[in-house]
Amino acid sequence: AYVVTENCIKCKFTDCVDVCPVDCFREGPNFLVIDPDECIDCTLCVAECPAEAILAEDDVPPAQHSFIALNAELAKQWPTITATQAAPADAEEWNGKPDKLKLLER
Ligand code: SF4
Ligand code: F3S
Repeated sequence: AYVVTENCIKCKFTDCVDVCPVDCFREGPNFLVIDPDECIDCTLCVAECPAEAILAEDDVPPAQHSFIALNAELAKQWPTITATQAAPADAEEWNGKPDKLKLLER
């Protein structure tokens, strides 16, 4: 499955969701996740993310391995999102900032 990683937090551009053929994105307050049980590895979402936050599970760097389980966990709790919406007003300011995991809202 593909995995949404740390740089999505507080960016949440949501360009990714429009292209997903199986509607497997789930929405939290300031982050999205992919349901690993639904993702068919089509790769379409990867190029859509302005924050380059979506990676194949095998390509997730060691420092972000916790995001693999986090996607699986939160996908069971959060609702499906299928249409792109406006990004947070300060999304660009947060793009590329380090250590955003502590800012994740559940
Ligand atoms: Fe959806 Fe394809 Fe991205 Fe998986 S890789 S989340 S199926 S768009
Ligand atoms: Fe997040 Fe990128 Fe989608 S910032 S909401 S994974 S377009």
